[in-house]
Amino acid sequence: MKKIVVLISGRGSNFVAIEETALREAWSRTIGAQIVAVISNRPEAKGLLLAKEYGIDAVAVDHKAFDSREAFEEKLAQVIESYEPDLIVLAGFMRILTEGFVSRFTGKILNIHPAILPSFKGLDTHQRAIDAGVRVHGTTVHYVTADLDGGPIIAQAVVPVLPSDDAHTLADRVLGYEHQIYARAVKACVTGAVSYENGRAVMDNETARYLTLLGKA
Ligand code: GAR
Repeated sequence: MKKIVVLISGRGSNFVAIEETALREAWSRTIGAQIVAVISNRPEAKGLLLAKEYGIDAVAVDHKAFDSREAFEEKLAQVIESYEPDLIVLAGFMRILTEGFVSRFTGKILNIHPAILPSFKGLDTHQRAIDAGVRVHGTTVHYVTADLDGGPIIAQAVVPVLPSDDAHTLADRVLGYEHQIYARAVKACVTGAVSYENGRAVMDNETARYLTLLGKA
């Protein structure tokens, strides 16, 4: 069985979308994969409660309990390694990870970012997209490297930015597509349809089309 560990910091809606897809498509039977743990750096994260409701291990590694980023990451890495994961899925995990941590899991960590990378790296992406006057915005799933929000791109979804949008309406529209694209990307990585090779995301044309979503208003 391929094991997936999900890292969160908050509400966990992307985790739920992936788990719901895994249950609906019976991943444990059809592709031999399952989410085995959800880990949060914030003990109060709603996503931890949701994980428990699904009967999935829910673990808090509170970054505030450690003196340094390195000490926090060492504990986080130990907890992750105890599950022997094939894939580590960052789903709204809001801590920057150092090169030392990332290099322990090269080619195994995915992240979802709420913008069309390489535009709008970092935080506050929806307001920044509106302020920039772009007509399209969206979301990107990528492999995590030491280059923040800069790793090889696996999947993207594009949605329109409407004149009436504020950061909330735009975030809602993007989130609906995050939920679709992340489950697809996780499945593609677990099955080997997408792989990490020499710093690139490798896939065939059919997979690339499947991992590209064009959203409606
Ligand atoms: C999502 O919109 C995700 O793209 C974003 O946080 C939200 C988490 O929502 N991630 C980042 O900004 C990463 N830098 P969720 O907890 O409901 O999945």
